[in-house]
Amino acid sequence: MIDQRAIEKFKNLETPLYYYDMDLLKRTLELCRRELDKYGYKAHYALKSNINKRILALIKEYGFGADCVSGNEVMWAYEAGFAPEKIVFAGVGKTDKEIRQALEIGIFSFNCESTAEISIIDELAGEMGKKANISLRINPDVDAHTHKFITTGKKENKFGISLNKLLETIEAIKNCKNIELIGIHFHVGSQITDIDVFATLCEKVNVITAWLKDNGLHIKSINLGGGLGIDYEHPLENPIADFEKYFATINKHLHLDEGQEVHFEPGRSLVAQCGALISRVLYIKEGDNIDFLILDAGMNNLIRPALYEANHDIINLTSSEALHTYDIVGPVCETSDKFASSKSINGAKRGDLIAILSAGAYGEVMSMRYNLKDIANHYYSDNL
Ligand code: LLP
Repeated sequence: MIDQRAIEKFKNLETPLYYYDMDLLKRTLELCRRELDKYGYKAHYALKSNINKRILALIKEYGFGADCVSGNEVMWAYEAGFAPEKIVFAGVGKTDKEIRQALEIGIFSFNCESTAEISIIDELAGEMGKKANISLRINPDVDAHTHKFITTGKKENKFGISLNKLLETIEAIKNCKNIELIGIHFHVGSQITDIDVFATLCEKVNVITAWLKDNGLHIKSINLGGGLGIDYEHPLENPIADFEKYFATINKHLHLDEGQEVHFEPGRSLVAQCGALISRVLYIKEGDNIDFLILDAGMNNLIRPALYEANHDIINLTSSEALHTYDIVGPVCETSDKFASSKSINGAKRGDLIAILSAGAYGEVMSMRYNLKDIANHYYSDNL
């Protein structure tokens, strides 16, 4: 993922920096596209995972649409050239301004999360003389077996319309003149590595579509969201998510009627492994029990370990010394600013270049200026 030529270039660059392997991204997209096409599935890339324009351009080239969760993301996708009829817009708290923007450009679907939201979309669409395509985001009460902060499909989560409220929501839509119900939408969580979760989701979706049909509703589009996990433990050995198994599982378990479309919203599985956060060792501090490796990158650059106790593999790019065990930390004044505890990497010295791997998704896009730190630059393998 990071070759010697890239390492030589990093030596002359200010760190921390984000580095993207465009060849790996291409291979990932190719494989995902091939597996989608096998079954005639459609996909909208979840912009929230990485919004870099070069990355978006490549993803668009492979025929993906865009999954957005704010008006700014909708406009960002539109300006990046994603066709409006391939843009979906989710989120529990869409503002009037955001709804108007999306109506203006004419997106494929608002993925709606409550009757209150649907009636506002109806009202705003009416004012603008437009018809809004909507899908119902349903909370299927499926446990994604992932970290609780990225679990979205349990009934106690804020997302989606509860199964108990489905009938009354459908009744309410009948009174909306400016709404067209085109689909149903699900997203039960992120970094899902237990493939059975998707089988369970499909079983639930089958029950829901059968029930909707009994109630006279033919649903054209079934959107199963994103969530496919990646291998954070062994990113170098296993750099591409298992799209083959994922889509085969869906194909096996999901019942479809004639003409029904299946949509997905992959984010992490497309972009996580192509990105790395590159940092320099500032200091090595001897602790009582363990040595601290103090980096110039911190939770301001990559918040995942602090926020979700996430594990990212870490390698020393410029040392072949014997392995040594460190607590690897950043410079931010927070105890949670720690990338790894008791991590074995090649023995380090000041100035060594350290790569924190699998950082392409929810890395740069979640960075912030806490402690008034600078936002890191980013570089791509094909124009370093
Ligand atoms: N669709 C919807 C409606 C979503 O909310 C998300 C992610 C996705 C698709 C894409 O899911 P993915 O394929 O990337 O798992 N910041 C967290 C992840 C938050 C995910 C939020 N929603 C992290 O760093 O792990």
